[in-house]
Amino acid sequence: MASNLKHLTYSLLLFLFLQIGSSIAASTSDDDLSELWVQQDNRRFLNAVLRVSDLNRTIEFYTESLGMKVLRRREFPEKDYFGAVLGFGPENSQFVLHLKQIHQGEKLEIGTAYGHFGIATEDAYKKVEEIRARGGVIRREPGTLPGLSQIFAFVEDPDGYSIEILERPPTPAPINHIMLQVVVLDRAIQFYQKALGMQLILRFDNPAEQYTIAILGYGTNFTQITSVELQYNYNVTKYTKGNGYIQVAISTDDVFKSVDAVKSVIQELGGKIARAPNQITKTASILDPDGHKTVLVENRRKK
Ligand SMILES: *[C@@H]1O[C@H](CO)[C@@H](O)[C@H](O)[C@H]1NC(C)=O
Ligand SMILES: *[C@@H]1O[C@H](CO)[C@@H](O)[C@H](O)[C@H]1NC(C)=O
Ligand SMILES: *[C@@H]1O[C@H](CO)[C@@H](O)[C@H](O)[C@H]1NC(C)=O
Repeated sequence: MASNLKHLTYSLLLFLFLQIGSSIAASTSDDDLSELWVQQDNRRFLNAVLRVSDLNRTIEFYTESLGMKVLRRREFPEKDYFGAVLGFGPENSQFVLHLKQIHQGEKLEIGTAYGHFGIATEDAYKKVEEIRARGGVIRREPGTLPGLSQIFAFVEDPDGYSIEILERPPTPAPINHIMLQVVVLDRAIQFYQKALGMQLILRFDNPAEQYTIAILGYGTNFTQITSVELQYNYNVTKYTKGNGYIQVAISTDDVFKSVDAVKSVIQELGGKIARAPNQITKTASILDPDGHKTVLVENRRKK
C-alpha cells in the first residue's frame, strides 16, 4: 500500500515535471528560436552567378550598353576558367554579378526556370535607345502596365538572357532584382519569408498577361534594395533548369544557425539542403521548393 502510494506520487510528480517541461519547450521551441534568428540575422544579397558562352562579349555588353563596371577578373586559361565580377558599385556594399564562361565544348542552355535580372536607371527610354543604338535586342519597348506608374522595358544580352530595365530614382541597389519562376507562389513566398527571413514587399497579379509576381527582400522599399521576384505563370507546372543561371548568394552572421532554421522550414514546405555548412569556408547551399539555389555566406567577423 505504502509503496503503491509512493509510486503514485512519483508518477504524478513525473507527469507534472513533463507537463511543465513541455510547456517551457513550447514557449521557446527550436522553431521559434530559428524564426527569431532568421529575423535578427544580418543579411543582404551578395551576388548572383550566371554562366555565359563568351565572357568578353558579355562584358562588353554589360559595361558599354548597361553601364556596369568590371570589379574583378579571374582567369586561369590552363584550367579553362574565365570569370569576372561586374556591378555598378563596390561589391562590399552592392549586389553584383559573377559571370563565368562555360567550358570549352559545353553548350549554354538558359532554360525557363530562371527569368531575368533587373537594373535600375533614371531614364528607361534613354537607356533603351542607347542599347538599340549599339545593336542590342529590345524585347519589350519601355512602357507601363495599365493602372501602374512603373516604367520598364526588356532587352536581351548577347546570349539571349533577358534583362529588365526599370526606371527608378537613384538607388544603392542598381542591380535591382533576380526573377525566378515558381510553380506554387504561396509556397515559394513562405519559403523566402520563413527560411531566408525576407519580407513580402509587393504582390501583383496581371491577369491580362497571365502571371502573378511577388517581390521579397531585406527591407520595405523595393526601389532601394535588391530583391527576389517570384513569378507564377498561370497553369505552368514545369520549367527547365538550364546550366546558365546557377545561384544567388546571401550573407549571414552564422551559417550553421541559418541552415538549422532552413531545415525546419524544409520539413513543412519542401526544398533541400544541397550542401551542409562547412566549418572552413563558412558557406552552405540550399534549394527552395522549386529547386532554385541560394548560397549562404558567413559575414567575416569585424576585427
Ligand atoms: C578577354 O579579355 C581579357 C582582358 O582584356 C584578355 O586578357 C583575354 O585574353 C580575353 N579573352 C579572350 C578569349 O579573348
Ligand atoms: C522609396 O525610396 C525612394 C527614394 O528615397 C522614394 O522616392 C520613394 O518614395 C520610397 N517609396 C516608398 C514606398 O517609401
Ligand atoms: C489557371 O490558372 C488560374 C490562375 O491561377 C486559375 O484561376 C485557373 O483555374 C487555372 N486553370 C486551369 C485550367 O487550371
